[in-house]
Parts: sequence; structure tokens; C-alpha cells
Amino acid sequence: MTLWGELHSEPPDAHFAAFSSSFACDRRLLPYDLEGSRAWAFALARIGILTKKDVQQIGRGLRAIGKRARAEPGWLDQHAEEDVHSFVEARLHELIGDAAWRLHTGRSRNDQVALDVRLYVRDVGRQLQRALADYAFELLRFGERHPDVILPGYTHLRRAQPILLPHYALAYVEMALRDLERVGQARKRADVLPLGSAALAGTAYRVDRERLARSLRFADCTDNSLDAVSDRDFLVDLLYACTMTGLHLSRLCEDLILYSSQEFGFFAMGDDVSTGSSLMPQKRNPDACELVRGKSGRLVGNLNALLVLLKGLPLSYNRDLQEDKERLFDSVDTTLASLRVMKTVVAGLKVDVAACRTAAAGGFSNATDLADYLVRKGVPFRMAHRHVSRVVRECTEAGLTLETLPIERYRAICDVFAPDLYEQLTLDAVLSARAVRGGTAPLAVHPAMKRAQKRILRALGSPA
Ligand code: ARG
Repeated sequence: MTLWGELHSEPPDAHFAAFSSSFACDRRLLPYDLEGSRAWAFALARIGILTKKDVQQIGRGLRAIGKRARAEPGWLDQHAEEDVHSFVEARLHELIGDAAWRLHTGRSRNDQVALDVRLYVRDVGRQLQRALADYAFELLRFGERHPDVILPGYTHLRRAQPILLPHYALAYVEMALRDLERVGQARKRADVLPLGSAALAGTAYRVDRERLARSLRFADCTDNSLDAVSDRDFLVDLLYACTMTGLHLSRLCEDLILYSSQEFGFFAMGDDVSTGSSLMPQKRNPDACELVRGKSGRLVGNLNALLVLLKGLPLSYNRDLQEDKERLFDSVDTTLASLRVMKTVVAGLKVDVAACRTAAAGGFSNATDLADYLVRKGVPFRMAHRHVSRVVRECTEAGLTLETLPIERYRAICDVFAPDLYEQLTLDAVLSARAVRGGTAPLAVHPAMKRAQKRILRALGSPA
């Protein structure tokens, strides 16, 4: 029997039935569907629609379904139901008979699916936050293992100024912190109960929605039934958070692929996340990072698909919305898996301290500090910049560095230069100068690491 009774004179076409079924995908919502159904049964019983006996039978049946699904996942494959909601109703009826058919009183699959997805987001939101925090802590540990290592900092992928390795790691921690916050916001938006909206206009039974919300641990109830059955904004929020996480991981991957190449040679990736070539025996390939970078494309695609899906939908529920779940599950799975892999990648990173230091010291990365030296002696910055650019040109032509250019040649360019300039050019001096909050001086970076640790814990503690 179809769920829609006897209005139709023909059963659904077989191709259409298969096309329309979402059970292969939304079976993942089974635990949430069971949880929501149990709470709805209690809500109906409280207003006398179900008897105590009905509720007991329903509770028993729902538990049995959950238990069998957990013990025997192949059981679900034996059923070609339209969706997870009809699967539960059909199995429940097999188990307990008529009481199963009373459960759908005053409820629609429209508010049911909206509820299930919100419960799912609440759950996986937490998992995503934990995975983000684990990854961020791994970045902090990477920084802690190499507190004094100096790397070249780049702009335009040209050596710009030296930076401390923990400062570099902290940049990705900042991104992870924002991602944590974004997932928290999505969780918060999902934390509103839609059940009781029924198909679109609100249920005709006077269920106590506030009490129902509390029983399912929701912070609040939705205030408009039309919106409640068709709102998927919280999914957009979550998919956006996943996408941003993926983009951030992808940027880190790009750095690590470059930095571990023979051309840079700063880092080496662990063998546990590298692959070899079936043809070239010498190769150690950074496939883990390449895959994470590649998978970020799926996240962008899923977010786009969801946005396009929602655009132009008339109020209220439309079946198009069924398409949200594949995108949702794929984004969550991809993000969780990518975070786990990147945690392992970061944990196994080895650093060639000397190569980092040599690269950081080269490329005239202390030129800005030479200009700052002149500024401190009263030369306007624009003028100082010009003098130093001439110094750099002379050095380049003579094959010298700022450290090895003799003082007379400096003084020929600008007589403010004096022998004390050389002290300003060491890597340590250049780093220490940047002691502002957020700067790369050891004095600024080490407290920033401590702060970051606390911020991660705080972000984990609060939903938004
Ligand atoms: N499988 C549907 C979905 O995922 C559930 C709701 C179906 N409602 C309906 N009126 N056809 O959105």
C-alpha cells in the first residue's frame, strides 16, 4: 500500500518509483527518525490521542527496529521503501500492528524530515567541531616541536620576510578557529524544533510543542510552520562551514606540497601519508595532500548544488528538498575524513631546520628592516625605501648580500648608514622587531600559542 491511500488509480511506474526513492541515502537518518517518532508518540499521548498502551507498543517497536538495524545493517538493503520514514512505519506496522498507523497523526513527513536533518546536524556538528579542534591542536603541537625554527614568509610566492614556524602554524589555527565558530553557528541554527508544523500549516492537534522541544533537547521551537517545513538555511550554513574548512585545508596542502618538494626542501611528509610510483622507483608523492586539495572541490560543488536547489522554491515544502541529503552527507563525510587525514599529515611533518633557515635568510628578506633602520635615524620611509632598493640593486649586481656589502658602499648611497646597521640585519633581529600582537617575534608568538589553545577549548565548549 502506498502512503497516500487510494486516490490514485495506478501504482507508481517502476522507473519513477526507483527515481523517487531516497531510502538508499536517507537511511542514515534512521536513528533520528526513531528518536523523533518516540518523542512524537509521547506528545500525542499527553493530549489523549494515543493510549498508554499505544505508546508502549510504539516505543518497543521503535527500539526493536533500531536494534535490528544496528545489529544487521544488511536488513535495510532488503527493503525498497520510498524513504526512511515509510521504512519505519512499515516495519513498525509489521511489529505492532495498528498502533503503528496511529503514530503519524498530526504529523507529516515534511516536518519529520526537517526534524531528522536538524537532529543529524546537531550530532555531526559536534563531530566536526571535535575533528577541527583535534586538527588545530595538532598544528599547535607542530609549532611547539619547532619553537625556534625560522621559515621564509612569502607574498606572491616570493620570499618576503622571515617568520617563526609556530607563527606559520598559528595562521592555520586561526582559520580552523573560524571554521569551528561557523560550525557552531550552523549547530545553533539547527537547534530549533520544527515538529508540530505538520505538512505546512501547523498540526491540528494541540500538542505541547515547547515540551516536545525540551524532550528532544532543542533550544526552541520554530515560529512559522510554512518556513519550518521548507527551511534548509541551517544546511547551507553547515555546508558553507564545511566548504571553508575544505578551502583552508586545501591551502595548507598546497603549502605542504610545495614545501616538501625538492625545490623547496623545508619539510618532509611521513611515509604513512605518502605514496610511491608504480613506474618511477625514486618517487615519494604527497597524495594525501593532493587528495584533500582535490576533495575541497566537492565541498564547493555540494554547497553550490544546495544553493541552486533552494533558489526559487515556492513556499512551502517541495520534493526538490529531498536532494539536499546526498550533498549534506557527502560534505560532512568529506570534511571529517579530510580533517583526520590532515591531522596525521601534520603530526608526521619533519622539518629541515637548516634548509628553512638558509631560505629565510636569503632573498633580501631583511631589506624592510634596513629601511626601518633609516627611518629610526630620521629618514622619511619613502626615501629610506628608495635608498634600500638601490642597495639591493648594487648587491644583486655585485653578487653580495646586505650583510656582506661594505659600509663605504652603503654610505655612498646614503650617509645616514653607519656600521650599526649590520646588527639590524640578522634573522633574530628581524624577527624580534615584530613584537606587536599578531606579529612573528618569539615574544608575540609564544603567548599567542597559549591563547590559541584556550580559544580552541572555548570554541569547543560553546555552540556558537
Ligand atoms: N524523502 C522526503 C525528503 O527527503 C521526505 C518528505 C516527503 N514528503 C512528501 N510530501 N513527499 O524530503
